[in-house]
Formats: sequence, C-alpha cells, structure tokens
Amino acid sequence: MITRRQQLTVLAAAALLAVGTARAEDTVKIGLILPMTGQQASTGREVEAGVKLWMARHGDKAGGKKVEVIVKDDATVPATTRRLAQELVVNDKVAVIAGFGITPSAMAAAPIATQSKTPMVVMAAATSAITEASPFIVRTSFTLPQASVSIAEWATKNGIKRVDTLVSDYGPGNDAEKFFVDRFKLNGGKVIESLRTPLRSPDFAPVLQKVRDDKPDALFVFLPSGQGAQFMKQFAERGLDKAGIKLIATGDVTDDDQLQEMGPVALGVVTAHHYSVAHPSEQNKKFVAAFEKANKFRPNFMAVGGYDGMRVIYNALNATHGATGEKLLDAMKGQTFESPRGPVFIDAQTRDIVQDIYIRKVEKQGDQYYNVEFETLKSVKDPGKVK
Ligand code: PHB
Repeated sequence: MITRRQQLTVLAAAALLAVGTARAEDTVKIGLILPMTGQQASTGREVEAGVKLWMARHGDKAGGKKVEVIVKDDATVPATTRRLAQELVVNDKVAVIAGFGITPSAMAAAPIATQSKTPMVVMAAATSAITEASPFIVRTSFTLPQASVSIAEWATKNGIKRVDTLVSDYGPGNDAEKFFVDRFKLNGGKVIESLRTPLRSPDFAPVLQKVRDDKPDALFVFLPSGQGAQFMKQFAERGLDKAGIKLIATGDVTDDDQLQEMGPVALGVVTAHHYSVAHPSEQNKKFVAAFEKANKFRPNFMAVGGYDGMRVIYNALNATHGATGEKLLDAMKGQTFESPRGPVFIDAQTRDIVQDIYIRKVEKQGDQYYNVEFETLKSVKDPGKVK
C-alpha cells in the first residue's frame, strides 16, 4: 500500500523533474575550450574576454533561450581538448563546442563534433585545413594563407628580392611558409633559407644568427600569438634591426596584446593581418573602448575571434528559434556582418571566414604602439582552399 504521504512525495518529485526538464530546454549551453594555462594562456585570456564582452553587450538570451557558457581549460594539451569536448557533449549536453587556441587542439576535437553532430566554432586556430577536418566546423578567426600571401605580394611590390623565412614548426607555420614562399617565388623573389623553431619553448638565438649571416633584404616570420615579444627582444639583442634586415610578418608577431612590451624595436615592422586595435571604424572604436573598460588590457585578433564567434552562434540561435545540431550549423553558414575588424562573410561552402586583409606598419602615437593599417585587400578567401 502506498500511503498518502508517499503519494505526495512522488508527485512532488515528478513536478520537480518536470521543472528541471523545462529549465534544461530553456537553456542552451556552449562549451568553450581554451588554453587558460600553459604556453598559449594569453590566447585563452583574450578569447574568453571577447566572448564575455559579446554577452555583456548583447545579453544572455538568444533564440528565446538562456545562453550558458561553460569554460574549460585544456592547458594547451590536445588530448585534454578532446576529452573535454567529449565530456561537454555527453555529460553537459552542450549545443556548441567553441574556442580552440591552437591547431592541434582543434584537430583533436573535430571527430567529436562529427560523431555527435555538434556545431564547432573555431575562434582562434588558423591552419587552413581545420575546416576540412569536420563538416560541423565553422571558423571566425583567420587562416595563415590569407595573411601570408598578402604580405608576399606587398614584399615583391616594395623592392624586397631576397628573403629568409622563419616559422613555428607545426600546422600554421607550415601554411605560412608554403604560401609565403610559393607566392614570393612566383613573383620572381629568391628564398635563401627557410628556418623553423619548435612550438614549445623556442630559442630564437641560433636561427637569428643564421639570418645575420645570410644578410637577406628581409626576414618573413610567423609565430603563434604570445611568442612575438620574446622574438623581438632577441631580434634587437642580436642587432638585426640595425643590420639593415627588414622584418615582415603575419600580424601574429606584432600582436596588439604584446606590442607595448616590444617597444621601439617593433617600429616600422610591416605585417599583414585581419585585425588591428587601431582599425579606424566607429564600430571598432566602441568595441575597443568597451573591451578596455572591462579588462584593463587591449583586445587582440584572438579577442575579436571570440567576440564574432559568439555573434555567429547568437545569429544562428535567433534565426532558428534555438535549434541544435545540423539546423543550427546551417544557420551559421553564409552569415555576413560588420565586425570590429571590418566586413566579414562565413562562406557557406567552406564554412571558413572571408575577410579584408590589411597591410599595417607599427607606429607610435602618443606613448602607445599600434599596427596602423595603410592598404586593404578586399574580401580575401582562404588561398588554401582555392584549388
Ligand atoms: C594555431 O595554432 O592555429 C595558431 C595559434 C596562434 C596563432 C595563429 C595560429 O597566432
């Protein structure tokens, strides 16, 4: 026999369960996996700040649901990224996985997105092939070929004939070297030597000595965000700035996050990239002011990748009234919007970002150093996918 009291307890439990379910359905969870510790921790800090700023400015509701972001630290270890992606999908039932500070982390998580049909928004990593690792990947950062081909073109047009190249020895470095070298040679330039440093704990002294001996017109460099300041310090210490060797790079090297720290040695360095804190649009001025008020540090291109990644997710949730899976993914494809970086387009075929690439030069304004844009290449598609 069930007593009246037991009956009531069962009813109360059932009611609670119903409320719980209703609440779960009203919430959409986003799993944000970032390197918050370890070598690439500055990327995690910037992307997270970009995500938080989007939510502070646009609220925590989209598509009629409450948006909840769960931040997980993969400590720059790809095996951890994969485990966290699995746990977020299976246990937390997230609708989207996002973040991904380095290429190996994005690659490690891609199979989880495919198997579970979970949209995966890559906000930082930038090797061309990432978007081909899963049909559920959408990218809001950039690709190394976009920046590298652009600076190769500029170099040829500006009298640079003989170069050395120096890249970080993994995915994005391979892309940067290949796309820079191919375009530079196609334009009649000569590459004397292609040098590489490891992703983990690089020492730039030996390679800089080689560059000194080679005496090229210029050194082309790609290093991941966070390594630029150390590199510039050694570039100056070895006297390469005074040896008449021009420095050209992707904008990862003159990272807005570290530019103040680099100081005068960075002056005059020419780079190609998709975002500068000094981008002179009204939208960017407001973005930078709000970001600096909230964080006490500058936004860099990683922060903008996080900010726009949330925009893509919010837009898709709004368009589908809170759908998940393939429907949500489809609504991410083909979006066009004005970003703090300028106009962008998420190509529906490649799920990759099409954007303006700027040629910039480091200048000092007041007591601040900036990447000042002076040329624009409009609507650059990833050259890695133009086959
Ligand atoms: C990457 O690992 O894909 C990556 C990391 C930092 C960058 C660019 C690319 O600045």
